[in-house]
Amino acid sequence: MQILAEFIKKIAEAKKVCVLTGAGISAESGVPTFRGSGESAVWKGMPVEEISSARMVTENLDEVWEWFDYRREVLKDCQPNHAHRALMLWESRLRENFLLVTQNVDGLHSQAGSRNILELHGNIQRLKCTKGCRLKYEMLPTEIPHSPDICDLCDAPLRPDVVLFGEMLPEGYFEYAVEFTRDCDLFLSIGTSAFVYPAAGLAEVAKRNGAFCVEINPEETPLSDIYDESLRGKAGEILPKLLGIETGHFH
Ligand code: OAD
Repeated sequence: MQILAEFIKKIAEAKKVCVLTGAGISAESGVPTFRGSGESAVWKGMPVEEISSARMVTENLDEVWEWFDYRREVLKDCQPNHAHRALMLWESRLRENFLLVTQNVDGLHSQAGSRNILELHGNIQRLKCTKGCRLKYEMLPTEIPHSPDICDLCDAPLRPDVVLFGEMLPEGYFEYAVEFTRDCDLFLSIGTSAFVYPAAGLAEVAKRNGAFCVEINPEETPLSDIYDESLRGKAGEILPKLLGIETGHFH
């Protein structure tokens, strides 16, 4: 895909940038997306909205763990791709004027070296207590199935530290993202189907506040119309070109 020089210049001149990523940015790393191409992720006949729901944690935590351990198994062999790395380099140029808001729980952004990340939906390699105490536990990516199972403090079962359907985002995270986005001059959405709120709403905040809004996605999304530019293609191919980054430097 050819990207206009004028457009690349506009990106290079941006002073404050917010990037929102979704499952599509990790697709080229081998992580399956939830939606796209008319399919939706199904685990043992259950759509993702059901198996990844607050109700399932109460009713069938073992099944939830099976699904998350399966996802961790898939992730074990996945590495950050050119798109993750390009974002890390962009952050190193803009520093505190760059915020990466991700809906992904795969940890690939931090593995690529990004630092200023807001993991809106949590992290799949972390556990927390089902009683809601503040203790969190880290797992090694190779520790499959997960452990430990029980909270040291409450003796209650542990669950993945991710935001499930029917649950609130971690306190203050979205508010911080909105505040940052309000005075951005560039907002870039990468690899998200824009179906899940409040994350999807960040693009609307950016647009209302006058940011130049760009979407990278091989497919149209329900929010495509609000973007100033929609680049149709793969993040790992488009993003380095957009940022003028030579991918030969990446290993
Ligand atoms: P989805 O799986 O809904 O959407 C992935 C998007 O990525 C689709 O629009 C694809 O067209 C696009 N895509 C596929 N390959 C791509 C590539 N190589 N480059 C760029 N884009 C590509 O993922 P999300 O929007 O992240 O929530 O889903 C939002 C939330 O729904 C997830 O965080 C998760 C899920 O259920 C929770 O688990 C709470």
